[in-house]
Amino acid sequence: MKQTRVGVFGMSGKMGSQVITAVGRADGMTIVGGCDINEPREAINNAEVVVDFTHPDAVMDNIRWAVPRGVHMVIGTTGFDQARLAEVRALCDEHPGVGVLVASNFSIGANLMMRFAELAAPYYPSVEIIELHHPNKADAPSGTSVTTAQRIAAARAEAGLGDVPDATTQNELGTRGGVVDGVPVHSVRLQGLVAHQEVLLGAAGETLTIRHDSFDRASFMPGVVAGIRYILEHPGLTVGMREVLGL
Ligand SMILES: NC(=O)c1ccc[n+]([C@@H]2O[C@H](COP(=O)([O-])OP(=O)(O)OC[C@H]3O[C@@H](n4cnc5c(N)ncnc54)[C@H](O)[C@@H]3O)[C@@H](O)[C@H]2O)c1
Repeated sequence: MKQTRVGVFGMSGKMGSQVITAVGRADGMTIVGGCDINEPREAINNAEVVVDFTHPDAVMDNIRWAVPRGVHMVIGTTGFDQARLAEVRALCDEHPGVGVLVASNFSIGANLMMRFAELAAPYYPSVEIIELHHPNKADAPSGTSVTTAQRIAAARAEAGLGDVPDATTQNELGTRGGVVDGVPVHSVRLQGLVAHQEVLLGAAGETLTIRHDSFDRASFMPGVVAGIRYILEHPGLTVGMREVLGL
């Protein structure tokens, strides 16, 4: 069987080291090299696909290095805004045939949670998101909570729902959270946690809570492996796991 050659940026990190194990166990792919901070990128050694779990401050330079060399990328590093995505899309346009997958959450359950939230959103006037992570996370709100809020907001708009009901007039301390596309998002950073999210939906006399918990980084690996297989066949920029997982 042909082996897809996979490299890893951030190979010494918590996610990168899991990727090395998961790719090593997956059928039809093999790790050919990797690098961590201040190590030469050339160590990816002829990889067809490189997986990036580094840092929001590092990932753009990694993309600018890999895509012009014809190396596909599967990127889990978070902190992507529309400006960053536009730059990656333009880079892919300049290098046809190269694929880049940017996904803020590779876990199957988290992607189902986002889909369920989107399905429920039209039926509930109120919605808020609580995202909870370990305290070493650099970015807040989490990429997953931003994506969830955007998908909920789009479903609400399509259903003709207006603003979420909220009589707050005083919020000097910001305790009502940040607001993403009209959806309040609350970020918790707590030792002992890995990656968790609740979507709270409310209507007269009832609430619906959709919760997902990643207890172990192993939960992200089936999605990473699926992403590697997907990006080999799909040039250009893919954002999120919807197409990869068929959700
Ligand atoms: N998409 C997802 O499903 C998902 C899941 C978990 C974490 N993440 C994200 O992945 C990223 C990494 O998370 P982590 O928990 O593994 O962090 P980590 O700090 O354990 O690992 C990051 C690694 O990247 C290395 N690094 C930094 N700059 C680099 C560079 N320029 N080149 C090569 N390596 C470099 C660091 O030295 C470190 O070893 C974060 O942005 C995090 O939010 C995404």
